[in-house]
Amino acid sequence: MTDTRLLRPRRSCLAVPGSSARFLEKAQSADADQVFLDLEDSVAPVAKPAARDAIATALDEGDWKDKIRTVRVNDLTTEWTYRDVITVVEKAGPKVDCIMLPKVQTAAQVQWLDMTLTQLEKVLGLEVGRIGIEVQIENAEGLTNVNAIGAASPRIETIIFGPADFMASINMRSLVVGDQPPGYESDAYHYILMAILMAARANGLQAIDGPYGRVRDAEGYLRTAERSAALGFDGKWVLHPDQIDIANRVYAPTQADYDRAELILDAYAYFTSAEGGAVGAVMLGDEMIDEASRKMALVVAAQGRSAGLSRTTTFSPPES
Ligand code: GLV
Ligand code: MG
Repeated sequence: MTDTRLLRPRRSCLAVPGSSARFLEKAQSADADQVFLDLEDSVAPVAKPAARDAIATALDEGDWKDKIRTVRVNDLTTEWTYRDVITVVEKAGPKVDCIMLPKVQTAAQVQWLDMTLTQLEKVLGLEVGRIGIEVQIENAEGLTNVNAIGAASPRIETIIFGPADFMASINMRSLVVGDQPPGYESDAYHYILMAILMAARANGLQAIDGPYGRVRDAEGYLRTAERSAALGFDGKWVLHPDQIDIANRVYAPTQADYDRAELILDAYAYFTSAEGGAVGAVMLGDEMIDEASRKMALVVAAQGRSAGLSRTTTFSPPES
């Protein structure tokens, strides 16, 4: 991680249709880490101009607490993208944390957004580079270029899997967004998720899983969230408030893992010090720990702290 803003947790990322005044209002009090106010697929073409204004007003006047505030613009094959970005940043730039670009296929598309944001920030007197970028990978071309896309701009904070568009683009035989296609025994998303995760980690970014379509099926949501959390993903979209608690729980470490991580950090710091014997690999209980264990523990400890967990154990050096 190169930038402290990248450490902000995004366990739950709530989708909010920009054309709905009711959802723009309700989302402000949601317990999600992030909201993204949508100008893309949840907004009908004729409703887009009004939705741009509604989103800018909601960002400017609303009380979003400490949630990360993102606006999803339309993809660059449409005629709407430039006007989406200009209207939202001109009207509410200081309140926008990130712009999400959907259906990204090439690094050049991200560079276009980076340069457009830079121009806007300069003209508007905003800090250049503060507004981040989130990229959605939603088709075969985007996945093929995902490493270059992840490296395309220092503004990028996340790489997001978009299962609905992805499934459509590769003809996957399932109509339930994010669910496994019948007839294939293994996890049909494994390759896609791992490719996104590798590109994210190689570039110091967060990896975010996309939506699960059956919003009333809590078990289905839990199943898909646990799958990507186990691989190392940082969070997942939520389409319905009922999914928020599940995401906040699944993408945070368990209390036992968090305690263990803090213990490893303390023990390793002690044993590598002169006082502790200056050794690089030691036993902690039944497990050997070394520098690699410290790195793993750092990640889990950081996730636990940002999820608000408190330690329930402490490290005591062995009596000599
Ligand atoms: C999200 O945008 C998706 O296509 O799944
Ligand atoms: Mg999509």
